[in-house]
Amino acid sequence: MRQLFIAATAAFWLLLLGFASSDRWLPAVLEAPLPVADSQVHALSEVARHHTADDCWMAINGQVYDLSSYLPEHPSEPEVIVAWCGREASEAYRSKMKGRAHSARADRLLAAYRIATFKP
Ligand code: HEM
Repeated sequence: MRQLFIAATAAFWLLLLGFASSDRWLPAVLEAPLPVADSQVHALSEVARHHTADDCWMAINGQVYDLSSYLPEHPSEPEVIVAWCGREASEAYRSKMKGRAHSARADRLLAAYRIATFKP
């Protein structure tokens, strides 16, 4: 009987120690991954304030891009792309206004200029 008591006590303390050293006792909220801080969310009115060649934002496919520094690199006549500064330009980007899509390289370039999520 005495041996059973000792074994049960030892098992109890071992279990308790194991439980305490794991993180099972933490509230679930602390275990959940922290939300990744998305930069910001901008509405069209905010995008529209950046409508010049020197300060050019566009909303494309649900994201906002600051293309100010890219514009001089763009291979078309400047006015072709500047016309889209401050605007929702998904369709213009998708078709180049000629019914032809941009290349995968253009898509990669675009990604580098993302500054926020677009809230229509
Ligand atoms: C949203 C308005 C835009 C319009 C109307 C537009 C239009 C055009 C046009 C007319 C061309 C040259 C002719 C051709 O290749 O067919 C072109 C080429 C190109 N554009 Fe745009 N573009 C726009 C935005 C952008 C943006 C935001 C980027 C990247 C940040 C970009 C990257 C390129 C590149 C890399 C090329 C060379 C061809 C290619 O790789 O597809 N464009 N674009």
